[in-house]
Amino acid sequence: MKKLALIGCGGIGRYHLGNFLQSKDIVELVGFCDIIPEKAEAFVKEAGCGKAFENYIDMYNEVEPDMVFICIPPYAHGDIEFETIRRGIPFFVEKPVALDMDLARRIRDAAEAKNLITASGFQCRYSKLAERNIQFCRENEVVCVMCERTGGVPSAWWWRNKETSGGQVVEQAIHQYDMVRYTLGEPVEVSSFSTRGFVRDVENYNTDDCSVTIVRFENGSLGAFAVGDYAKNGNAADEKIIFKCRDKRAEHRILDSFRIYGEAPKEESDENKGFIIAGDGAVSAGGGCVEYKEDETYGLRCDRTFMEAVISGDPSKIRSPYRDALKSVVFTMAINESMATGKTVRIDLDR
Ligand SMILES: NC(=O)c1ccc[n+]([C@@H]2O[C@H](COP(=O)([O-])OP(=O)(O)OC[C@H]3O[C@@H](n4cnc5c(N)ncnc54)[C@H](O)[C@@H]3O)[C@@H](O)[C@H]2O)c1
Repeated sequence: MKKLALIGCGGIGRYHLGNFLQSKDIVELVGFCDIIPEKAEAFVKEAGCGKAFENYIDMYNEVEPDMVFICIPPYAHGDIEFETIRRGIPFFVEKPVALDMDLARRIRDAAEAKNLITASGFQCRYSKLAERNIQFCRENEVVCVMCERTGGVPSAWWWRNKETSGGQVVEQAIHQYDMVRYTLGEPVEVSSFSTRGFVRDVENYNTDDCSVTIVRFENGSLGAFAVGDYAKNGNAADEKIIFKCRDKRAEHRILDSFRIYGEAPKEESDENKGFIIAGDGAVSAGGGCVEYKEDETYGLRCDRTFMEAVISGDPSKIRSPYRDALKSVVFTMAINESMATGKTVRIDLDR
């Protein structure tokens, strides 16, 4: 059985641990590493197996993993990936894969030079709703995309500082920007405004409260994204992406539902559990909507897809390899640049 290790035993590490515990049929959990030893020890206790380490090099030397999940904060990337690549260990790395784009490109190129299997934490891509969204965008001409995501300020110290997290767009709303890339197509230019000063009751807070960004896509569609962390409470107080066509529109609430308004309902099938509910009258054609619900296996599917790719040697089912995950960071970093300069920024995803 292949041996799996984890670096970074924090919030998202615990989420992956839940998926690992459901994958003991295909992987052996051998090591957990965190610079805070108690965190790694807590993971060993929860897993009921493996060994805790304070240093990833000691862990690599001792347990020699066949694959690793790297779940460290955005500012901490670099040495861990290069050492992982040097040893030829396939890796899954959390988004955003780095905050320095030159560093990320060097990691990408080094991993590809070794032909290593990589994946990243865009688990929303593994949702069945994403598949339905792709089909919608293929079958319909989307004129305009509108997105909102408003939540509260996360508790991690590094999150509250734009230098260490990348800011709300790069660290958080990147899931929405990535979903639109995945389903509709690539962006070519962005123009963004941001604002600060509304969130006054959070200590050591140094990032934008809200941003509004216009995106032009390669296929001619336009996007408007209003996202922020200014809500008093809530991880995601409001969240949806609307894909608007001339005769219908679709609403994607990531990991919750995908609704198509204005389309005659298709036959109900076991696969999509589609059912018809009353429309909100926003379109005249059809008059109702078809709703698809998430089945909540996307996270497990995401992690197991990477594990199975390493086991079989076939990466073809991975929906977010490092190369592609980097493009979503380049996209969101261009938005940061536009916020900072007040200029429209062209996006070069192929560098
Ligand atoms: N895919 C998702 O939906 C999702 C959700 C939440 C977080 N994330 C991403 O996961 C990453 C981590 O977020 P989090 O919420 O788990 O943060 P966290 O602060 O809860 O956990 C990070 C852990 O990494 C440890 N760490 C830091 N540097 C380390 C190093 N050099 N070696 C070993 N351990 C180290 C910290 O001590 C901490 O325990 C971030 O990039 C975040 O954007 C992704």
